[in-house]
Amino acid sequence: MKRLQRLRATAALRDMVSEIGFGQSQLIQPLFLAEGVTKEEPLSGLPGNSRHTLTSLLTQFEKDLAAGVRQFILFPVPANKSNRSFQAEFVGTAIQQMRQRAGTDASIWVDTCICSFTETGHCCVHDSRGRQDLAATHSALSVLALTYVKAGADGIAPSDMNDGRVAHLRAALDGAGHDLAPIMSYSTKFASNFYGPFRDAADSAPQFGDRRSYQLDVRNRSDALASSRRCAEEGADLLMVKPGQPSADLIRPIHEQTGLPVGAYQVSGEYTSLALLAKEKFLDFDKGLVESWHNLRRAGATFIITYGARLARGLGL
Ligand code: PBG
Repeated sequence: MKRLQRLRATAALRDMVSEIGFGQSQLIQPLFLAEGVTKEEPLSGLPGNSRHTLTSLLTQFEKDLAAGVRQFILFPVPANKSNRSFQAEFVGTAIQQMRQRAGTDASIWVDTCICSFTETGHCCVHDSRGRQDLAATHSALSVLALTYVKAGADGIAPSDMNDGRVAHLRAALDGAGHDLAPIMSYSTKFASNFYGPFRDAADSAPQFGDRRSYQLDVRNRSDALASSRRCAEEGADLLMVKPGQPSADLIRPIHEQTGLPVGAYQVSGEYTSLALLAKEKFLDFDKGLVESWHNLRRAGATFIITYGARLARGLGL
């Protein structure tokens, strides 16, 4: 059954997908939870963002709630890496505590990928002969997704780009009685050079090769559109382009072809570019940031993942 109700569950979700107006309620703030760190580590490439301990994450979360942030996406960074079994209990604990603090005032999304969990730094499991093991990858992703949703996450955001993962995750959630948990798919995600600052934060750089065998080739528009259409057919509730500004041309076509809300991820490299321009006094950071959001909104983005969501109120949004 098609469940259109998933995006109507809370006021925070309804505001996020509103097609009228534009404000902070449509900006999603990333938060990095690093199991292995003993104190908050500010990220030099992403001013205002840190790798958090559980305690510092909760402090930041409360500050962000007070600053009006209503959408969060959590990036788990486990202390120990493995190539087969992934422990995500530390994420469940964090989600429960965030939920306790926020009630239904804010949505908690969780980036659902294994690249921070694998020794290889890849978004898929490899078999003993070094080939991508799709079935093992799907089941690893669904174990993580269920941990997150059971702990109280509003929805999951698969960012891995492996074929078939949205269908698999939808079935896993439905099978466990979470048929109202939405999936925000990173549906048009390019193999981009602009993820550098993030990979340091998430400790997820590939240890061999690159991600071009599963992420999209920047030269291919048809594949980029097909990839989002496919996620829609498999049951995604929300779609996304990534990186944001470089993919602005695709946002409206994806919406027209699927009818789903389409967001944009203003990725680490985009955000850091603004910060570096400002540092060299070539840009007014605040004005540049708001302009970059307006550009994405004009291109048709319903929601935007941005490292500056917590600044929005101060910027008059
Ligand atoms: C994990 C993931 C990545 C980003 C979001 N989720 C890294 C990647 O695919 O290499 C990038 C976010 C950013 O650069 O801000 N798969």
